[in-house]
Amino acid sequence: MADQNLKIGEYVLDRPLRSENSGFSEWGFGRKDGQTYFIKRFLSPVYPPENGKLGKRIVEKKKAMCSRYESEKQLLFWKINEVSDGNLLRIHEFFRYGTHYYITTEKVEAMDFEKEVLRLSIDEKIVLMKVLCHALSSLHKAGLIHGDIKLNNVLFYRTEQKTVSAKIIDIDSCFWKDNPPENSDELIGDFVYLSPDYFKFMTGRTSTVLEQIDIFSMGLVFHELLTGKLPDFDHEKYMYLYESVLAGQKPVPDPSIPPQLRNFIQSMLWCTQEVYPDAWSLLQELRLMTQGTVRPTPQRMSATYIPAPDPVYKGPAPKKPRNEDDPDVWFHAAGDL
Ligand SMILES: Nc1ncnc2c1ncn2[C@@H]1O[C@H](COP(=O)(O)OP(=O)(O)O)[C@@H](O)[C@H]1O
Ligand SMILES: [Mg+2]
Repeated sequence: MADQNLKIGEYVLDRPLRSENSGFSEWGFGRKDGQTYFIKRFLSPVYPPENGKLGKRIVEKKKAMCSRYESEKQLLFWKINEVSDGNLLRIHEFFRYGTHYYITTEKVEAMDFEKEVLRLSIDEKIVLMKVLCHALSSLHKAGLIHGDIKLNNVLFYRTEQKTVSAKIIDIDSCFWKDNPPENSDELIGDFVYLSPDYFKFMTGRTSTVLEQIDIFSMGLVFHELLTGKLPDFDHEKYMYLYESVLAGQKPVPDPSIPPQLRNFIQSMLWCTQEVYPDAWSLLQELRLMTQGTVRPTPQRMSATYIPAPDPVYKGPAPKKPRNEDDPDVWFHAAGDL
């Protein structure tokens, strides 16, 4: 019989959950019905235990809060699963066990970033960038903002066909653009990847938060993917890149990046709330780049760039999943993009 400490509902863990690389959760892997899943325990909210230690009124209040949390998350996860092509990590199950809430997702056999991903060819890296722009675009079109895009929240993996692909993870903390968290405690963001505008929103200096915050952070992830490091800035004066940007210093992509890609990343890092490239346009730009027909306008995004909505795109129609049961097939082959 399985050790009760290693059982979470119907899942049997291989070892206790831990909080490595994690923000507000503990995670690990568990088996159910012969399959291994990633399992994540949220540290809050905590469902009130029925042990009589808390007063009745407090228990009722906490229960009502948990019930609100459940319905909000259910709606969010339903939407994520609906719009995901597989490259936004889908939620397999969301449940409460005892006093904690959990989600499970498929387990991704992630490639080692330093040893494997960084050594990929530039073409393979562009495929990864396309996958990520596509995934981000799906999320944004659904009216959602991730809010915590960073290297640790992207998993790179090899497909069955041995091509490379990527998944955006940690989507459970994303929020609706039209209804962002009011309480800044609920905003999760990593200062290393934080966009200046997200910082302004977190500190109450603006009241709107746009998809653009994810675009900025994804620009940093792409920079790391291409060079193994973040863009340089004055480390003597500033602790984080966003601080230097707020002080008026534009981030400069590393000169080792090929010029077209450098301009591309610059457009992501120089974006403002008024003028920014959307993820779908970025995907089209990468497609054009790989067809060798990218428009030679190096600074254009920093001027008045108008995001192209879907219908303007005249290229081939996006492919439907080849297998409805395995929507992940979508982006398995590099040729698909
Ligand atoms: N589906 C998965 N398969 C394998 N490892 C995963 C998976 N999802 C997350 N991880 C690992 O767990 C870590 C924490 O997961 P994440 O969802 O980012 O939690 P947190 O909200 O605590 O940041 C990730 O950085 C990654 O290393
Ligand atoms: Mg994370």
